[in-house]
Parts: sequence; C-alpha cells; structure tokens
Amino acid sequence: MTALAKSRPAFDVEALRVQFPILSREVNGKPLVYLDNAASAQKPEAVIEAVANVWRHSYANVHRGLHTLANEATEAFEASRGKVARLLNAPGPEHIVFTKGATEAINLVADSFGATLEQGDEVILSQMEHHSNIVPWHFLRERKGVVIKWIPVTEDGTLDMEAYEALFTRRTKFVSLVHMSNVLGTVNPARRLTEIAHANGAAILFDGTQAAVHMPVDVAGIGCDFYVFTGHKLYGPNGAGALYAAGDWLERLRPYQGGGEMIAEVSEDGVVYADVPHKFEAGTPAIADVIGLGAAIDWVQALDRTAALDHERALLDHAEAGLRDVDGLRLYGRSQDKGAIVSFTIDGAHPHDLAQLMDKYGVAVRAGHHCAHPLMKRYGVPGTVRASFAPYNTVAEVDAFIEALHKAKSFLI
Ligand SMILES: Cc1ncc(COP(=O)(O)O)c(C=O)c1O
Repeated sequence: MTALAKSRPAFDVEALRVQFPILSREVNGKPLVYLDNAASAQKPEAVIEAVANVWRHSYANVHRGLHTLANEATEAFEASRGKVARLLNAPGPEHIVFTKGATEAINLVADSFGATLEQGDEVILSQMEHHSNIVPWHFLRERKGVVIKWIPVTEDGTLDMEAYEALFTRRTKFVSLVHMSNVLGTVNPARRLTEIAHANGAAILFDGTQAAVHMPVDVAGIGCDFYVFTGHKLYGPNGAGALYAAGDWLERLRPYQGGGEMIAEVSEDGVVYADVPHKFEAGTPAIADVIGLGAAIDWVQALDRTAALDHERALLDHAEAGLRDVDGLRLYGRSQDKGAIVSFTIDGAHPHDLAQLMDKYGVAVRAGHHCAHPLMKRYGVPGTVRASFAPYNTVAEVDAFIEALHKAKSFLI
C-alpha cells in the first residue's frame, strides 16, 4: 500500500446510508439488504428533495415561457444538460439529448442513423448486449434488410477481440456495444473497440447504462460517436436519461420524433427544425426527472468517487470469495476489468426460487435472463442470480446475502 493510500480516510458508508431513507426499512421482518442496484438504484434525500422542490416551487413547462416559473424550470432543466456533459466529459451541453433512458436513446440512434443505411449494410453487436441494444437493430433488420453480426463472448466473459476485428467488411457501418455488462460486470475496452471501428470506417455507440454508475466515463478519451445512459441507475429518478453524440452527428442525422419543441417553424409545406440538441427532443420532456438527474449527478460528483468505487470493489471481492465456498455454484464473468456485479447459478436450484427464498431474509437480488437472452444462450442457462453493489452497501450486508443464499439452497436441494 502506498503512503498516499494509507493516509486516505476510510470510506464512511454509514454517513452515506443515512442519506437514503429507504435503506432503513425492513422487509419480512429483517433489515433490507438491497443488492438489486443494477436494475435500479435507490435515491438519496438530495434527489428526492430536488424533484419535490420542482413540483412544490418551480414547476412550469420549459423553454417557451415568458414568466418566472417557466424561466426557473428552463434554467434548472438546461443546467442538468451541462451536468450530464461534465459527467461524461463531453465538449458541451449541445452534444447532449435528453431521453426517457438508455432504451429510448438507442432507439433514437438506430432510427436516425438507421435512416442512412441500405439493404446489406452491417451492424456489429455482441453476445453480451442488453435487449435494448438488440431489438432496435432487429427492427432495422426487418425494415431495411440490415445484417446484424455478433462478437462472441469468451468463457470468462470478455469480448473476443480477434473475432471482432474479423467481422468488418466494407459494408460494416455501425458498431453498438455495452461498455459494462449488466450480467457479467465486464468492462469492455471502449477506446480500443472505437479505434478498430473507426479504422474500418464504422461509427460506434456505447451503452453506458452500467458503466456510468461504476466508473468515471470520458467520451472524449474513448473517442466514440455516441454514448447513452439512464438516470435511475445513477441514483436519479426514472424517466430521464441521455444520449451523447460527438462532432456534428446531431446536425447530420434526421430527427427521431416530430412534434412541439423540436421545430423552428412549421408551415403547410414543411418544417424547419430547431437547433441541436432540441431537434431531437419532441414534446414536453420529463421536466422534474431531468432536474432530478442533475441533482443525482451533483450527488455522485460530491462523493469521493475513488473511495466509493474502491468500496464497491471490496464488496465484490468479498461476495465472490463467499460464493466460491458454495457447492455447485458457477460464477459468470471473470474479467480482470470488472464492475461491482456478480452473476451465478447453483446446480439443481432455479434462480427464481433462490431469489424468492432470499427475499424472506430481506435480501433483494435479481434472478432471470436480465434482458440478455443471447448471453444466457451462450452459457446454456435460462437465467442467473445477480447481486449488484452500490457504495451504500456494507460488508455485513454481503455476509447476510451469503448466509441467506446458503439457507435458500439448503431449502431447495
Ligand atoms: C446494460 C443496460 N443497457 C440498457 C438498459 C436499459 O435501461 P433503461 O430501461 O433504463 O432504458 C439496462 C437496464 O437494465 C442495462 O443494464
């Protein structure tokens, strides 16, 4: 350990926990142990208050207003855009489009970029994608005859980079990949993946839904064309997420949806679109939720992020050590570069049964296919149990999780 590391104050998890009112509740007479953070994270008081404050004090529709409330709401809404840009290290707020979440952001790119594709053009995905980064591309396959190619996942849960390079042809126009897997925890080498895509003349999108939570993201450093994430996993409200688009992509692509807010002028003969990024934000947005997302980003950035992520890593290591002692247990995702998510199966026990029994002990984990059917097929399992960690989780909670798992297992086998 370096002198600097030694001198770091210990991460104060209790000081963090008191900021999350839900964490003090009980489930089935036991203290809640919330390890379903990869599905949706809990919200700190600062976010709850920011959203409530909009409803109580500053609510009005944004942008076109000529009164005080509309101006206050617009200012807070647009301030969130700047916060997202800073979170991702984007060059400026004009590169950020607000969406409902990652799913809508990927649909936007598949639709708007997809309009430039022709039959026989190719899109590369990987076997570890969430369905939200698969289905929009299947729409294009069905609609336009676009060909989807797949990067295989190796046994230890990483992308097969040689196979990736071999997939490109002169018809490959787009690559769309998860930055950090929601099942395996694997962090993919975003910069290298981007260099290879660009060297082959293809644009690239990263689904940063998990990565934005578990690591600092630097879209400028990665050099990608598009990056998406969702606010509710980053301790923010549901209903607000974002798309980052590099360079002049937003200028070049046609809008995704039409309606109010995204136009400069409409006549009987046609439409002049609003400037970017508003050209991509048709209709009234999720005003309070976007402002709440800004508050969540403030909250995350006020953390000692290095210490928080080290703490998450320690929880992951502790969980994996405990799981290795469980007979018949198979772990998925053993990449060196991995975020705080652990997935496993136990021979002879259905993941759903395990999760339901663990709930009796107050332990919330997720079980199922995690919206990743191709990955489940790759490993030959119908589903896994997944525990995912946040900085507010404790070592004692990981112990409670392992104990509940042993009890659930002995009930079933
Ligand atoms: C990797 C990944 N991508 C995309 C999504 C979809 O996010 P949302 O439902 O918020 O759009 C999820 C949600 O679980 C995810 O984990």
